[in-house]
Amino acid sequence: MNKKIVVLPGDGIGPEVTDAALLVLGAVGRQHGHQFDLQPAEIGGAAVRQTGTSLPPATLQACLGANAVFLGAVGDPAYDLAPREQRPEYALLTLRKALGVYANLRPAKLWPALSSAGPLKPERVSGTDLCFVRELTGGLYFGEPRSLDMRTGEALNTLRYSRAEVERVAEVAFRLARQRRSVVTSVDKANVLETSRLWRIVVDEVASRYPGIRLEHMYVDACAMAIALDPRRFDVVLTENLFGDILSDEAGAVVGSLGLLPSASLGLGLGLYEPVHGSAPSLAGKNVANPIGAILSVAMMLRHSFGLMSEAADIEAAVGAALDEGARTRDLVANEADAHLSCSAMAQRIAGLVAAGPRRR
Ligand code: IPM
Ligand code: MN
Repeated sequence: MNKKIVVLPGDGIGPEVTDAALLVLGAVGRQHGHQFDLQPAEIGGAAVRQTGTSLPPATLQACLGANAVFLGAVGDPAYDLAPREQRPEYALLTLRKALGVYANLRPAKLWPALSSAGPLKPERVSGTDLCFVRELTGGLYFGEPRSLDMRTGEALNTLRYSRAEVERVAEVAFRLARQRRSVVTSVDKANVLETSRLWRIVVDEVASRYPGIRLEHMYVDACAMAIALDPRRFDVVLTENLFGDILSDEAGAVVGSLGLLPSASLGLGLGLYEPVHGSAPSLAGKNVANPIGAILSVAMMLRHSFGLMSEAADIEAAVGAALDEGARTRDLVANEADAHLSCSAMAQRIAGLVAAGPRRR
């Protein structure tokens, strides 16, 4: 199989974690005899500076012609006041829409070695293993009309969902639950929002096609609290776009660091893989970022786009082994003075464990 991967390092810590992820991809490729055809392209603030636009047509063309797309991060405070079309985030949203990746899988698992690394009590969080299925190409992020008028001092966004949009992402959640612990929690605000009432009705309909799966509905405010108080109760968490954005960052805190979380955006065929953390401008260029979210995103790419299950499992095992050995990036230690690895050193450690093969781990 010719595995053509478009690589979009992007902004902030994006390039650093992308280098880290590619190092591990190279190691797994050598170990299993795969060649990956990597095509770098510009996106985000980096692309604005190079080409004047955050999603150059050449980048979009390259993505549409690839077998998978890997993205580091977009976001640059230099463009905070720029019009929407010139902001880095706009490129990512346009790309998600163009690729039709309507289902964003965001697994959040507490690695045993990290049960005391986060801010929450280990007895509350240990064993956490949940996966968000976040709707990614609808809702407030895309709804029209939208506007900001500083003359009148008014702004408008539109929250709109269609039956078909809810149904297709719910299908992804129920299929995923079948491979996991068979529970779907559907998150909404049906006590207030019409879109949420539609969401509930359609999710119930989909659930009737999956008799083996237990469905529960939860309001988003209650869900936010339950993720902090009792994260183990969740298996698959199905949410609309904005709720999923917010709750997945919260889950980052539960498992020890947002830097650990990977994601896969799936839909009409082509997959887009990116860590959840974003560009983290304050960490950029310092080689201190946690590359594990990016590295695990590569594992998700191998699994979901290429069907390379044991290769994906090897990467995950190497991450677990590195953490078991005590390897930590700065976000995972209590004090900056505590021993920790740089971004690139963590990547080398994990790549080394991949190259050592299962017996040495
Ligand atoms: C994420 C990010 C993006 C989002 C931004 C960068 C547009 O926060 O992937 O979670 O809000 O979806
Ligand atoms: Mn986010």
